[in-house]
Amino acid sequence: MSDWFKTWFDSEYYHLLYKDRDQTEAENFVKKIYQYLSPSPNQTMLDLACGKGRHSIHLNKMGALVEGCDYSENSIRHAKQFENDNLFFYTHDMRNELPKSYDYIFNLFTSFGYFETLDEHQTTLLNIYKGLSEKGLFIFDFMNTEFVLNNLVAEEIIQKESVCFHIKRELIDDVITKKISFKINENFHEYQEQVRALHPKILVEMMKNCGFCVKEKFGNYHLAPFDLHTSNRFILVLSK
Ligand SMILES: C[S@@+](CC[C@H](N)C(=O)[O-])C[C@H]1O[C@@H](n2cnc3c(N)ncnc32)[C@H](O)[C@@H]1O
Repeated sequence: MSDWFKTWFDSEYYHLLYKDRDQTEAENFVKKIYQYLSPSPNQTMLDLACGKGRHSIHLNKMGALVEGCDYSENSIRHAKQFENDNLFFYTHDMRNELPKSYDYIFNLFTSFGYFETLDEHQTTLLNIYKGLSEKGLFIFDFMNTEFVLNNLVAEEIIQKESVCFHIKRELIDDVITKKISFKINENFHEYQEQVRALHPKILVEMMKNCGFCVKEKFGNYHLAPFDLHTSNRFILVLSK
């Protein structure tokens, strides 16, 4: 697993492919989770690996003091147009320690599992633990690997505007590899997404290794209870 995420997530084609999932899904989920967390007005939130900031923007609209950070410079440049007194974006590699602490840290929409080694993942979680205030909460939203692997769609064609994306998925050495290929003006493009197939059990173990306590497990963006066999998401609410 090389640093593939540096180029793919920074490309305009990533944003085109996932365009339709963007705003409504984020807005509805943010409303639900905000209601559940019921933060007080001065509490701070970090959307870690925020992409173009879709969740950060809605969290801020709900009244929170929000910062969003991401490795992708293009995404942060785009997000910055939405900044205000209570919303700020910066570039950051989550494998490094956070510059300050927050009352809530969110890591949403499978923004984890990309790195070469398990150690890098464990370090990332430890950085989050250190960056969380004493009574803070960490909201971690990953795919439910058990469900995803049992329902893996090996090939798919997705048309977005004028681009026809050919997608191939397979499990290689415990990594779910998604090859994305398409042609633009007769030029062939190929990207890869590689996400480590971290099983819910392993993730909970990794969280506990850092010192986190699991407060809640949800199984989708409507906050239904988690079920290993039928839930498509594995959403954890963790405290110190
Ligand atoms: C699947 S996207 C989700 C983005 C955003 N959370 C959303 O839901 O729209 C994953 C994000 O993780 C970011 N990312 C990948 N590696 C990172 C790293 N080492 N540090 C910070 N962000 C990273 C990518 O740039 C990308 O924006």
